[in-house]
Amino acid sequence: MKKVAFVTGAGQGIGKAIALRLANDGFAVAVADYNAETAHAVADEINHAHGKGSAIAVTVDVADRERVFAAVEEARTKLQGFDVIVNNAGVAPSTPIESITEAVVDKVYNINVKGVIWGIQAAVNAFKAEKHGGKIINACSQAGHVGNPELAVYSSSKFAVRGLTQTAARDLAPLGITVNGYCPGIVKTPMWAEIDRQVSEAAGKQPGYGTEQFAKRITLGRLSEPEDVAACVSYLAGPDSDYMTGQSLLIDGGMVFN
Ligand SMILES: NC(=O)c1ccc[n+]([C@@H]2O[C@H](COP(=O)([O-])OP(=O)(O)OC[C@H]3O[C@@H](n4cnc5c(N)ncnc54)[C@H](O)[C@@H]3O)[C@@H](O)[C@H]2O)c1
Repeated sequence: MKKVAFVTGAGQGIGKAIALRLANDGFAVAVADYNAETAHAVADEINHAHGKGSAIAVTVDVADRERVFAAVEEARTKLQGFDVIVNNAGVAPSTPIESITEAVVDKVYNINVKGVIWGIQAAVNAFKAEKHGGKIINACSQAGHVGNPELAVYSSSKFAVRGLTQTAARDLAPLGITVNGYCPGIVKTPMWAEIDRQVSEAAGKQPGYGTEQFAKRITLGRLSEPEDVAACVSYLAGPDSDYMTGQSLLIDGGMVFN
């Protein structure tokens, strides 16, 4: 019987790469996204490559606690088990300090912070129903280690994810559950293309300017592919990370050194 992984925001970008990687690692995967179309496309791709029943698409808004619980339960029932949740969905609008509104704070925190809390709770529920422990993996960021310019709301939401990861690790260890995070740098996804557009526009420059500025801080001299991040998540989802908990691993090409 395959182990089961539930990945949020798996319709595109990093989440998609994680879903494909975990399927390659032998997991049955619930491809969860609020975009039903992209979620189905990724699930179809996995089923095509690994055989029918290797993936299902689940439509969910991670900010909606009840829906998150229902989606996790749907995955547990349909895929017959529950072993790993990857709370990957997130949003990252550019928010220079003086432009910050209540609406943008609510939106970002509802998805990036509350979405992770609901995912943690729903996963604990599912692990208990399966009568075993499991692995909770949260999307953090290098911006969750160091404040990033123009990204106060996003950066603070990712600091919160790192704090949640540490606290949940301590709270859930007695249940045999580990909780870790991954902290990408600058990854070539639709999210980054939008940040680049906004940062470049704010500076009065052409698209690409934001990327150039950020890339100067990457020791390895290149932007990240989504697959670089998926490899880190593969480690966190597999048995080699059994003795690790409460960590938010930097997988950023050497942007931040702690
Ligand atoms: N791209 C980067 O450079 C980068 C860097 C560091 C951290 N991250 C983090 O990695 C994660 C994935 O980022 P990405 O670049 O792949 O983003 P992306 O915008 O390319 O994809 C995000 C996916 O999440 C889905 N999503 C958004 N809000 C949702 C919600 N409320 N409920 C369910 N699904 C939702 C979207 O439909 C989309 O499929 C995010 O948490 C992000 O903060 C990204």
